[in-house]
Amino acid sequence: MTEQAKAFRDYLQERTAMVEEKLRTVWPPDWEIPPRLRESMDYSLLAGGKRMRPILALGAAEAAGGRTEAALGAACAVELVHTYSLIHDDLPAMDNDDYRRGRLTNHKVYGDAMAILAGDGLLTHAFRLVADSLQEGVPAETCVQIVADLSRLAGPHGMVGGQAADMEGVQGITDVRELQAIHTHKTGDLIVFSLLAGGRCAGAGEQQLDALRIYGYSIGLAFQIQDDILDLTGDEAKLGKPVKSDERQQKVTYPYLIGLEESKRKVEELTEEAKRAIRQAGFPKPQRLLELADYLMNRDH
Ligand code: IPE
Ligand code: IPE
Ligand code: MG
Ligand code: MG
Ligand code: MG
Repeated sequence: MTEQAKAFRDYLQERTAMVEEKLRTVWPPDWEIPPRLRESMDYSLLAGGKRMRPILALGAAEAAGGRTEAALGAACAVELVHTYSLIHDDLPAMDNDDYRRGRLTNHKVYGDAMAILAGDGLLTHAFRLVADSLQEGVPAETCVQIVADLSRLAGPHGMVGGQAADMEGVQGITDVRELQAIHTHKTGDLIVFSLLAGGRCAGAGEQQLDALRIYGYSIGLAFQIQDDILDLTGDEAKLGKPVKSDERQQKVTYPYLIGLEESKRKVEELTEEAKRAIRQAGFPKPQRLLELADYLMNRDH
């Protein structure tokens, strides 16, 4: 392993630990939360996971020359939204999967009703975390912009819309243009939110936010294509979730439409596009975002 690769590995570990610590203390200590609801939310939230979205938010803040601590609230907010989306995605009415992040899915342990409510609780609390960023020195106007981004990119025009379109995708009818739109919304939008939130907390200007958007949509699409590839070729133990779930649910995916090799090429192409956008934007510290793009392309889980 090269020195640079080691430094990046240490960086990922340090960032993951920072995020995990904050996630362990997201519920205000004086809140009365029904114990089973709290247990169910924490079961999924604290089950591990790559924490890529918060790490990207922190990476964008760093690239733009800001304090990463200021972005930690918004970074964790997106992890709450992402975790809720996974709990609901696994429900019998959706992808009907039994394993997630290396353990039984939320509904398998707590039942469908509590899993739905755990998702609802996590989603709602994400907005509170953004509001609390005020105490970390993020200006009120920036907090409001982040709230507006979150409701647009996570809601019916964003991730929820993408999930609805994913449920309605039909093998043999949905074409690659429609699939790209599904992937862009169900996965790309939350990734873009993460980057914009990090950038905004660091006071990034419009041109930098535009570059973060291009980077986010490129790695976001690449991320979901890679997820589709791993669903076919990955190792269940490493992934912590079942493989061949897409085939079972007759999902329209990139490998289904254009084949495995072409899908892999597409991931590489999108990663290059993403890195180009960052290189051209003149960030003071772009290195980590460039490394994160490569890391995501080469991931096996
Ligand atoms: C899985 O996301 C769902 C997709 C949008 C592809 P991740 O691969 O980031 O899952 P975790 O957070 O690491 O469990
Ligand atoms: C889900 O995509 C994206 C979400 C918004 C949750 P998938 O259904 O492919 O995600 P996995 O493979 O179950 O993690
Ligand atoms: Mg799904
Ligand atoms: Mg799924
Ligand atoms: Mg998948």
